[in-house]
Amino acid sequence: MNKIAIMGAMPEEIAPLLEYFKDIKATKYASNVYYETSYNNINIVIAYSKIGKVFSALTTTILIEKFKCDIVLFSGVAGAINKNLKIGDIVVATKTAQHDLDITSFGHEIGFVPEGSKFINMNKKLINIAIDVAKTNNISLKKAIVATGDQFVAHENRKKFIFDNFQADAIEMEGASVAVVCHSLNIPLLIIRSISDTADTDAGFDFDKFLDSSANISAKLMITIVAYISKNIKKLN
Ligand code: ADE
Repeated sequence: MNKIAIMGAMPEEIAPLLEYFKDIKATKYASNVYYETSYNNINIVIAYSKIGKVFSALTTTILIEKFKCDIVLFSGVAGAINKNLKIGDIVVATKTAQHDLDITSFGHEIGFVPEGSKFINMNKKLINIAIDVAKTNNISLKKAIVATGDQFVAHENRKKFIFDNFQADAIEMEGASVAVVCHSLNIPLLIIRSISDTADTDAGFDFDKFLDSSANISAKLMITIVAYISKNIKKLN
């Protein structure tokens, strides 16, 4: 029987999920709270990790190793690098990279460490499901390369650096670390993010203004995807 993890980084990113799903049991573990529920006979565990690569890697590992989740879905917000992305748009990650992983002093490419890879590809079946579900619901879902780092980006220079080195469309602070864990443990991962800001000098202001609405846009699509997956789980297995 499958068990689906649905993660966010911040309370605001999972609030719409906790509102939607019923009969939730909260379990405290490792300085965090894990919310267990079920939906269409599928077990679900919801958690927010706290911001950044370390906390998100920890939460992902716990969702897989302790709670035995075998699919990980991430819903949240992102900053736009691609000029065609506007606040409120939704993206699905095709691959992730860590833009702040830097051992270039030793001749390695930015984002690469030995025995790792610069990019991690997301699960193609889950991407296609997300695109199909979005289409059915008349939602425009754009494919995006997502760059992750332990920094809130609010400057044109850093945006340019991330685009030049990763061709990233969107940036956030957890996707690539969640991907490292899922890839290492052979667990399919889907990342959906709605744009909260355009990572420029107004980004802090925009983020505060649009966090709730963009988190809600992402979570709503994710709930529809979960409904589809719960009815079509065989397509994934
Ligand atoms: N998440 C949302 N906006 C972001 C930004 N500008 N930088 C990093 N993470 C983000």
